[in-house]
Amino acid sequence: MIAAHGSAPLNPRFVEEGARRDELREEAARLPSMLLSSAAAANAVMLGAGYFSPLSGFMSLGDALGVAENMKTESGLFWPIPVLNLSADAAAVDGAERIALRDPNRPGHPVLAIQEVKSLTRIRDEEFDFITARVFGTRDERHPGVQTFRGLGRSLVAGPVEVLDHSYFEEEFPHTFRTAASIRKEIADRGWRRVVAFQTRNPMHRAHEELCKMARDATAADGVLIHMLLGRLKEGDIPASVRETAIRRMVELYFPPNSVMVAGYGFDMLYAGPREAVLHAIFRQNAGCTHLIVGRDHAGVGDYYGPFDAQSIFDEDVPPGALEIEIYRGDHTAWSRKLERVVAMGSVEDHAPEDFILLSGTRVREMLSQGIAPPPEFTRPEIASILIEHYRQAG
Ligand code: ADX
Repeated sequence: MIAAHGSAPLNPRFVEEGARRDELREEAARLPSMLLSSAAAANAVMLGAGYFSPLSGFMSLGDALGVAENMKTESGLFWPIPVLNLSADAAAVDGAERIALRDPNRPGHPVLAIQEVKSLTRIRDEEFDFITARVFGTRDERHPGVQTFRGLGRSLVAGPVEVLDHSYFEEEFPHTFRTAASIRKEIADRGWRRVVAFQTRNPMHRAHEELCKMARDATAADGVLIHMLLGRLKEGDIPASVRETAIRRMVELYFPPNSVMVAGYGFDMLYAGPREAVLHAIFRQNAGCTHLIVGRDHAGVGDYYGPFDAQSIFDEDVPPGALEIEIYRGDHTAWSRKLERVVAMGSVEDHAPEDFILLSGTRVREMLSQGIAPPPEFTRPEIASILIEHYRQAG
């Protein structure tokens, strides 16, 4: 099976039931505690679930600057986006060797993890600007990822974590939330050797479905992992519970039995385009996948990134050998009126723009919110009705 990132064993920071866990629970009650940002909590959940292997915890300023600059930590590990615990006020934990990290996303803020404090640093504005610009490619505050990042505070708490739970993800998505180790195990149990992963934060429309099928065929994959984001999104994006229902229905109706695993991971969307695509590749490698689909405007938002920048970063900035997982580069897909099927737009000849059915996300949302189903060439009717029902209930 494909090795975990960094060619080290998978390093899930979640502490299973047992003596160590009891000890940590007891210790947590005595330690100074810190309320995490949602972004830092999501990082802890990803560390817990093994997706961020081989990392053991939150990065130092030196690591963050190296990662921002050339995707390398101080020890030389290839990594595209700093994994940070930033806080507006870390005074309460100043001088502490170990701290309890509280979960902002659950009532009562239970302890999510315990962190060993290796360093507590205040990031200077110019360092913060540098990290923002390198990771997001922009410092524009209208970019939703930049906006969230800039609101996180400037005190950086670095050090390894031991994680006590998977936050709200396991409870809210008991059938869908999965750790990297459990996906690896299921891949092995199914006897799949080539697995192509599909990243998504959307209910799946025809373009998404066909992209998975094209990638499966082109890579001769034994199976597809549809791996959906379960964490926070920007306003207007569709909630994970609705996407989960829609995706499971689509798989049941339109994919051969036992050819797809539907799973989810607990992370907030960053909208960091190319850099996030590289992070996506790392955590799918950790989950045991051999390929990741990167299509048009992967992990993008607005027009901050070129449509295929998230593909070219793998050619231009990822050093050979840095990753074992391979990228399936998906062309822009759309419905062809001439051929009456979804096609990769670059692969068909004699097509004028009006021969394709292409709808913007905004237009689709408008239609759904008015109770109008998008055309079946764009969305499967069974999926459209799930989405219309969601919009009706949301009012
Ligand atoms: S993402 O933020 O998670 O990337 P989304 O769920 O819309 O957003 O996309 C999932 C994957 O499908 C990404 O790899 C994206 O590039 C790809 N994709 C979505 N729509 C298209 C399309 N029409 N043509 C080609 N690729 C697409």
